Amino acid sequence: MSFIDTVLIEKRAFLPSKQFAAEAHVGNPLEYEPLWNQSQRDPVAFWDEAARNITWINRWKRTLLWQEPYAKWFEGGTLNAAYNCLDRHLKEGLGKKTAIIWEGEDGSHLTLSYQGLFEQVCQLANFLERKLGLKAGDTAAIYMPMVPEAVVAMLACARIGVTHNVIFGGFSGHAIRDRVQDSECRIIFTADVGYRRGQEVELLKTVDSVLSEMPTVENVMVLKRKSETHLKEKQHDWRLVCNQEAKKHDARPFDSEHPLFLLYTSGTTGKPKGIIHSTGGYLVGVTTTAKWIFDLKSTDVFWCTADIGWITGHSYVVYGLLSNAATIVIYEGAPFHPHPGRYWEIIEKHRVTILYTAPTAIRACMRAGNDHPKKHNLNSLRLLGSVGEPINPEAWMWYHTEIGKSRCPIVDTWWQTETGSILIAPLPGVTATKPGSATRPFPGIVADIVNDEGRSCAPNEGGYLVIRNPWPSMLRGIYKNPERFKESYWSKFPGMYFTGDGAHRDERGYFWIKGRVDDVINVSGHRLGTMEVESALVSHPKVAEAAVVGRPDPIKGQALVAFVTPRGEESGLDVKKLTQELKDHVAREIGAIARPDEIKLTRTLPKTRSGKIMRRLLKELAEGKEPTGDTTTLENSTLVEIIGE
Ligand code: WTA
Repeated sequence: MSFIDTVLIEKRAFLPSKQFAAEAHVGNPLEYEPLWNQSQRDPVAFWDEAARNITWINRWKRTLLWQEPYAKWFEGGTLNAAYNCLDRHLKEGLGKKTAIIWEGEDGSHLTLSYQGLFEQVCQLANFLERKLGLKAGDTAAIYMPMVPEAVVAMLACARIGVTHNVIFGGFSGHAIRDRVQDSECRIIFTADVGYRRGQEVELLKTVDSVLSEMPTVENVMVLKRKSETHLKEKQHDWRLVCNQEAKKHDARPFDSEHPLFLLYTSGTTGKPKGIIHSTGGYLVGVTTTAKWIFDLKSTDVFWCTADIGWITGHSYVVYGLLSNAATIVIYEGAPFHPHPGRYWEIIEKHRVTILYTAPTAIRACMRAGNDHPKKHNLNSLRLLGSVGEPINPEAWMWYHTEIGKSRCPIVDTWWQTETGSILIAPLPGVTATKPGSATRPFPGIVADIVNDEGRSCAPNEGGYLVIRNPWPSMLRGIYKNPERFKESYWSKFPGMYFTGDGAHRDERGYFWIKGRVDDVINVSGHRLGTMEVESALVSHPKVAEAAVVGRPDPIKGQALVAFVTPRGEESGLDVKKLTQELKDHVAREIGAIARPDEIKLTRTLPKTRSGKIMRRLLKELAEGKEPTGDTTTLENSTLVEIIGE
């Protein structure tokens, strides 16, 4: 296990200030420690209590039915997720409170109150239900820019029991087609265009390009942002049709286990998996973690920079925040556009109190220099969060001093698409933080680190991160693929959920997550399967074979390096032209986020006698190192020969 042995010993620790602790929801360690200990002994009791924070139509009869790997949480309970994010706040007189502050790249902005959001959701729900005949059990794809209507679409689906499948707005037509086909969506929500880096992103055109290959799609809702956009058959002008509908709609109850959404994520095979999340358990998980980990107060303005196309956007832009009646900021645009101080400008403009972003963004801002944050008044900030990949201590310290001015606690939150909500993170009022550590599991989460045999590791011994108990927001399966569900998460160690991450725990019980131990890599906080990029490469007629590995990158965390064996004659091969063509091809097949940073054309790929590509060796080559270790199992005795070097 030397590959994940501990190299990092971080001694600095930061305690919450007395004032922060005094005002926090959870601020007294003398009360918290016994609660945490008790939650480790009886997680179900903790979650049973937590479930009282959301509104149920019928109370549950049994808290958990666990038949590994299948969980039923809050059995017999019924609820409506949209009701929890909207109606119940209106009942408490919060109709005028700002729900969403939307900021465009060009500096335009608008705000939407809880009452306003409620009305838009009701109008859309009425149209979907009454005019289009959508009903519980149907699935809907949402392919939208970061605009309030993306949230409206999610909540309208939730309101009528339609399971949504949000597809990141940067994905290509082929990626949309694969996801829509797999999940059999009856409808797609999109916009004619989005705006990014001063350019139009033609979402509707992308949908149109593959519409004929998606026979299950009966209707397309189009948010028209340009008056000249012409709509075709099957397409509805979103605003126009909704204006005809009533601004009220009765939220119906759904079973706690009713699938709220599917979200496709990368795994270790070429095909992304449709992760299924429930309604009741998911909402309990995100509502509780959002409130405790971000110490949410009614006065907070919360900005999570993630796109709603990722799980972070689902849980900590939409459901976890709106269910807590928070005010959220949504930014449609690129972080550095039109200038590198854009983030700090937005924080100052909207008086953001909590910023939740990814290490890659923090590192990029750090590289852009301290002058940018210095130009802005960041006094409104009181808490900072990090998510998506391990945060290196340098970036943590920069975030702490330059952005948090050494007074805002930092919550480094570890979780996954599959876990639904944050599982390991500090509670800012009680936990002493250490740069680079996500600290301890949330109450009700029994996390462990085990060795190859599945035995708990000693302090500072590297191993695999596992979860030993079921938790409410856990995935309920992979859409139409129960075998892969069992195989991916429940087969490596019996009785434990396997996360795919390597980690160690220090003497104090703090977790230090090191990243994936499988073939999933994190590029700028986006999760990509190397196999997925390989299948895209080999679908190109000039490619015989391909292997993709990650290489550490100072900004992106990891960069994608592809080794490709071209088909046919080497003589006359234009290396530059072909590598460019292949990069574009991958971007077209999956999306720009998967575009390889570097492509090396090789005569052969290093393989073992059994035909397995030796990725370890390729990784070393990608990092510019001399291959070390055992290469005796190598089938071809010559090492990798790069064409054109
Ligand atoms: C990584 C994102 C270290 C990890 C919410 C995990 C992290 C994968 C952290 C899930 C963190 C996420 N520290 N690593 N705080 N947060 N990861 O599904 O490798 O996009 O398995 O969910 O991101 O990525 P996903």
